[in-house]
Amino acid sequence: MCSVKIIIKLMSRVIIFDICFVAGQTKICGVNFMMAHIIDISSQKGGTGKTTTAVNLAASLAIFEKKTLLVDCDPLGNATTCLGIDKKSLSLDLYGALVGDSRPEDVILNTELPHLSIIPSKFRLIHAEARLYRVPGKKKILRSLLASLQEFYDYIIIDSPASLNFFTVSALVAAHWVMIPFQFQIHSLEGLGQLLLVVRSIQKQYNPDVKIAGILLTMWEPGNANPPTATFKLLRRFDTRLFETVIPWDKVLRESLNNQKPVALYDINSRASKAYLELAKEIIEVLKLPEETVDNH
Ligand SMILES: Nc1ncnc2c1ncn2[C@@H]1O[C@H](COP(=O)(O)OP(=O)(O)O)[C@@H](O)[C@H]1O
Ligand SMILES: [Mg+2]
Repeated sequence: MCSVKIIIKLMSRVIIFDICFVAGQTKICGVNFMMAHIIDISSQKGGTGKTTTAVNLAASLAIFEKKTLLVDCDPLGNATTCLGIDKKSLSLDLYGALVGDSRPEDVILNTELPHLSIIPSKFRLIHAEARLYRVPGKKKILRSLLASLQEFYDYIIIDSPASLNFFTVSALVAAHWVMIPFQFQIHSLEGLGQLLLVVRSIQKQYNPDVKIAGILLTMWEPGNANPPTATFKLLRRFDTRLFETVIPWDKVLRESLNNQKPVALYDINSRASKAYLELAKEIIEVLKLPEETVDNH
């Protein structure tokens, strides 16, 4: 028996038909709808640009008319604030969906960008683990929740907290891809190695499908002693893809976050806005089809 895949794009969804040739006959032996790519923005170090990247990558994908859901998986709720959502008046959030008080589709909010939605969070998220204490497989709840929403989006971007805890593990268990924002400093290389080991252990224990999408250099300063090429060389020893896009240090990013807007809506001509739009293009290109392997570059 031999088979071919026919890929058809219909109303922005990708449908993959498996066509088999058996005993001189042609048959459709499978139909798969391409689901959202779930990308977890993760690093065990605080302040590496995770939230900034999650918010601005999600917004940039939405600007390219990709249906995108941003999931704020950090009890600090910074991604929620960055999109101008008032946490005090928020009653439907990720906490409610995780503990089963709300349906996943009820906790999704629209944003200023027509193609961008968010599942917001506030500090009560921290109590989710204690409330789920006796629930078996509690680390897989986020995964099931996002799986139920996957067919409605092209991309689901998760903003994870720093350090290894219930939320970072839940996000890795739910994800197809991990993007690692990395602010280059020699002593940060150790933390990077640790995160790659954690991803490997999640692959073994819970989620064999999770792959590293790549390392993203963030907050790059023009006066940096190492040029990006030298840094790339150093990072290659981790045998992990490096995004070609480098996010520059740009004060406009801080201003845009203080103004609770993605940078593209604050100053589309800024270096940071251009970089995050470039990153969105790179992601669209790199993760094009589900069969493509990215980490074996
Ligand atoms: N490229 C950048 N240029 C300048 N400031 C940045 C940049 N990226 C992030 N920041 C700032 O650095 C701080 C930490 O970023 P954040 O995204 O919150 O990190 P994390 O989520 O990893 O803790 C924030 O104040 C943010 O505004
Ligand atoms: Mg953060």
